[in-house]
Amino acid sequence: MPGSGLILGIETSCDETAAAIVERGARTISSVVASQIATHARYGGVVPELASREHLRAIVPVVRTALTEAHLTLADLDAVAVTSGPGLAGALLVGITYAKALAFANHLPLIAVNHLEGHIHAVLLNDRESANEVGAPGPDFGTWDRTNLNPKPALALVVSGGHTHLYLARPMHGTWSYTLIGRTVDDAAGEAFDKVAKLLGLGYPGGPWIDALAKYGDPNAVPFSFAQIKTKAHLGGKPARTKAARTAPIARLDPHFLFSFSGIKTAVLRYVELHGMRAEAKARVSRVLANFRPPQTRQEALALCPQPTLDLIASFQHAVIGDLMKKTFAAAESLGAARILVTGGVAANRELRARFTGEADRRGLRIAYPTLALSTDNAAMIAAAAWPRLLARDFAPPDLTADPSLTLS
Ligand code: KG4
Ligand code: ZN
Repeated sequence: MPGSGLILGIETSCDETAAAIVERGARTISSVVASQIATHARYGGVVPELASREHLRAIVPVVRTALTEAHLTLADLDAVAVTSGPGLAGALLVGITYAKALAFANHLPLIAVNHLEGHIHAVLLNDRESANEVGAPGPDFGTWDRTNLNPKPALALVVSGGHTHLYLARPMHGTWSYTLIGRTVDDAAGEAFDKVAKLLGLGYPGGPWIDALAKYGDPNAVPFSFAQIKTKAHLGGKPARTKAARTAPIARLDPHFLFSFSGIKTAVLRYVELHGMRAEAKARVSRVLANFRPPQTRQEALALCPQPTLDLIASFQHAVIGDLMKKTFAAAESLGAARILVTGGVAANRELRARFTGEADRRGLRIAYPTLALSTDNAAMIAAAAWPRLLARDFAPPDLTADPSLTLS
C-alpha cells in the first residue's frame, strides 16, 4: 500500500510541457504547464521538431517548479507517472526519458499513462476534489468508488486537437475499463477548429479564437451539414495503415457514432473562396500576430472580422458542436450510460458546454466537464490516472518507450 500517495505526473505528448503533484488521485498539490504556443503560433500548427526542442528546454524547470510549489522533494513521492502515448514520438520521448531517470535515481516506481485516459481522469479528479470539499467520504480511489458516486458506466467524449473519441468507461476492481464506441475517421474536432482558424487568418490554437468570435455571429447564416458516414465506403477495402486503425478498426464501430470533420473544413474553404474572403483573411494574419489575444468585445470582434466572417465562424462552430452533440447523446442513450463526461481541449468551448448541458438537462442525464485549466493538456490528469495503477502495482517496464499511436480500450 502506498505511503504518501503522492504522484509526480509528467506530460509532454504535444506542445505543453507539464508537471503536477496529485495526492491519491484526489487532490492537486501543484500543477505547472509551460505552453509552447508562442513558438508554434507563427506556423499555425505544432512543428514536431520544435516541440521536442522546447520540451528539452522546459522539462527540468517545470518539474522543479511543481516540486517547489508543492513544498515537497523527490523523497516525499510514491511514484512518477508519465504519458507514454498517443502523441508526437519525439515529444513523448523527452518526458519518458526524464521520468525514467527520475524514477531510477530516486528508487521510485514508474507508471505509464495513456494520454486519453488522462483526459478522462481530469473530470474524475474534479469529482474527487469536489467530493473532498463537501466532506464526502475519502480521497482513496476505492472508497470513492464505494461511495456510489459513479457506479454505472459513463460515456466519455474525448475531444481535442488530436482526438474525437467516444468511450464507455466502467469502474472495475478499483480501476477503469474502456470500450471504444466511436471516433473520427479523419480530422479531430480541435484540428478542424485549428485549420479553419488558420484559413481565416486567426491565431493558433484556433479553438479559443473561434470560441471568442462565434458569439458575435449568426450561427444559422451558413447551413453546414454532416453526411452519415458509411464505413465500408470510407475504408474502400484497403488494409489499415496505422496501428490505431488495426487495433480499433472503424468497420467494427457503429457508423452512427463515427465523426468526420475534414468535410466541413473543405466546405469553409470553398465558402471563403466563393465569397471573396481570401484577401481579407490574409490581411488579418499580421494583425493577429501583433495582438496575440482573441477579441473580448463586439467592437474588438468587428474591428478584426466583418460581420459575414463572424457569421461564417459562428455557423462553423454551431455545426461542429451540433454533430458532436447528436452522436454523443445517441451513444449515451443506446448504451444506457448514466452519465456523460466531456473532456479535452475542445471541452473548454463555451457554446459546447452550454448546449451539452442544456441537452443533458432535457434528457435527465448527468454531465460533467473538467475545469478550464484541466480541459487542455496538463499533468495533474496524468498523476490522477496513475493512482489506481499505483494501488494495483501496475508499473511500467524498464524498456518503456513512446507509443505515438497508443490506443485506449
Ligand atoms: O487537449 P488539448 O490541449 O491537446 C490535445 O490533446 O490535442 O487540445 C487542444 C485543442 C486545440 O485544437 C484547440 O484549438 C482546442 O483544443 N481548443 C478549443 C478551445 N480551447 C482549446 N476548441 C474550441 N474551443 C475552445 N475554447
Ligand atoms: Zn490532450
